[in-house]
Amino acid sequence: MSHRKSHRRRRKREEARKRARGRGCCRWSSGGSSPEMEAPTRAENDEGEGERGDVVAIWLLDAPIEDQNPPAPKRRHGSSVYTLKEMEEATNSFSDDNLLGKGGFGQVYKGTLRSGEIVAIKKMDLPSFKEAEGEREFRVEVDILSRLDHPNLVSLIGYCADGKHRFLVYEYMHKGNLQDHLNGIAEVKMDWPLRLKVALGAARGLAYLHSSSAVGIPIIHRDFKSTNILLNTNYDAKISDFGLAKLMPEGQQSCVTSRVLGTFGYFDPEYTLTGKLTLQSDVYAFGVVMLELLTGRRAVDLTLGPNDQNLVLQVRHILNDKKKLRKMIDPEISRSSYTMESINMFANLASRCVRADSSERPSMVDCIKELQLILHANTKGLSMTMHTFRMI
Ligand SMILES: Nc1ncnc2c1ncn2[C@@H]1O[C@H](COP(=O)(O)OP(=O)(O)O)[C@@H](O)[C@H]1O
Ligand SMILES: [Mg+2]
Repeated sequence: MSHRKSHRRRRKREEARKRARGRGCCRWSSGGSSPEMEAPTRAENDEGEGERGDVVAIWLLDAPIEDQNPPAPKRRHGSSVYTLKEMEEATNSFSDDNLLGKGGFGQVYKGTLRSGEIVAIKKMDLPSFKEAEGEREFRVEVDILSRLDHPNLVSLIGYCADGKHRFLVYEYMHKGNLQDHLNGIAEVKMDWPLRLKVALGAARGLAYLHSSSAVGIPIIHRDFKSTNILLNTNYDAKISDFGLAKLMPEGQQSCVTSRVLGTFGYFDPEYTLTGKLTLQSDVYAFGVVMLELLTGRRAVDLTLGPNDQNLVLQVRHILNDKKKLRKMIDPEISRSSYTMESINMFANLASRCVRADSSERPSMVDCIKELQLILHANTKGLSMTMHTFRMI
């Protein structure tokens, strides 16, 4: 690595570390007066009651979690229940040394359970005005995630609901979140094949949610973003954070919500305008993550001028312009790891995912198929280049 490049990486790492520690998040609910940084607002009871898609949330909100009979049938994991004392023991009393990151609803700590298992513990920290929101998110997450089982979704090991305290216990993902890797917090650069692998893994996770195979009806994640894509030691991508997930009412293509929830920068414009939530809203967010993988930029970068802050608006018009596209490629990606053909194919797919009209976006199953082709084209192209090189 050249001196200038390693210096730039170091600087990026420093900035990213600062940001990750105090990230908070820029989640937004349209019920608040404006998008808020650091202090997201969320509706207490954000959606039309009685919708089929809310069945789970309503069941959950009816009674304190301790009093409920769990809907037994599909629960495979996520069922371990912990006490506050166990959570404290696991995290060394929530010491700063164990802090992995901060989100909109609290902090995530690395912990070791009595069994010796290493886990990630999300401590939900809520000021009283956000208590109901947080409670809802906690319950939806426990209920939905404990019924899901897929290699590209993070596993929920259990939870703690002790008095007012709420904790979620997840499998520990050694390499943290994707955004930190793209923003230079990690030591290792992500080359193109690795980025394609991550995109493919995340696409598989979303496609599983969107299929009915998970809980019998499709699930919309609604908060898909690069900090919610976690990586294990093998860089397998797993999707996390299901607190905003919504079950799609059976036989419907969309559901109307009275409040727009999600994260600034990943919002499907159609959902923002109409409140109409579709599976394609996740596809839009997936397109934004693809653009982050391609450019190494953040979905929203508040350090830039007002016209350049939003990644989609900034790059959308050049995604199918091969010449201009070259300049957008993340300089951290080593040139020997990609072919321009695969970059062009990837950019073209991303451009379709972020189309304003949701009906023009591909499905997640289409995305998987195309990403497999892109991966193949890249591998084949690179091996041909190597072959030609050897012949000279
Ligand atoms: N299971 C996990 N394993 C390892 N790190 C995690 C895990 N879950 C969350 N984290 C880290 O904690 C950070 C904060 O998570 P979260 O509260 O979900 O907020 P956000 O998704 O907005 O970053 C994540 O960005 C990630 O770096
Ligand atoms: Mg998260």
